[in-house]
Amino acid sequence: MYAYLLPLHSFLRWAIVILGVVAAARGFMGWRGNRPWQQADDRAGLLFVASLVVQLLVGLLLYLVFSPLAAAARRDLGAAMGSSILRFYGIEHPFGMVVAAIVANVGRILARRDRPARAKHRIAALFFLAALLIIVISIPWPLVPAGAGRPWFRLR
Ligand code: HEM
Repeated sequence: MYAYLLPLHSFLRWAIVILGVVAAARGFMGWRGNRPWQQADDRAGLLFVASLVVQLLVGLLLYLVFSPLAAAARRDLGAAMGSSILRFYGIEHPFGMVVAAIVANVGRILARRDRPARAKHRIAALFFLAALLIIVISIPWPLVPAGAGRPWFRLR
């Protein structure tokens, strides 16, 4: 199962980053261009939030059941604090992603409320951008220590 979930979790990062860029960019363009709120704006937010929820569930399965790294961190959280890698996968990565998912969800809920289109776009732009930034700094990219040795695209 680990052999399927890790590549899925790895691949979903790209879907999330792309959907987040699209949702935030639509918000900024609608805000700056004073465009009416369209169904496509709503759908862009929905796809971003939905992809985050799916990823949270996959991450939770890795965290609680399949990942040896997360298991090592959970065995002794105190000791994990002393290891930058265990601290990252045991605490910082899940915490950052849960916060990002909350920010994106709140943004979508507020943007759907009855208010002028410009305000809807502004909320979508700022909340989705904030969520995206938290996600990007919480991902273990191969260029940061926590992601060293990990591929950009995990095929297996
Ligand atoms: C929602 C946004 C999330 C994104 C974009 C994300 C992204 C990633 C990426 C790119 C990796 C490295 C995969 C690889 O090595 O190819 C990873 C690893 C991991 N993630 Fe996430 N993640 C997210 C949420 C979560 C959450 C909420 C949890 C836990 C509750 C979690 C737990 C883990 C664990 C335990 C690993 C290490 C697995 C291992 O190597 O054994 N992730 N994540």
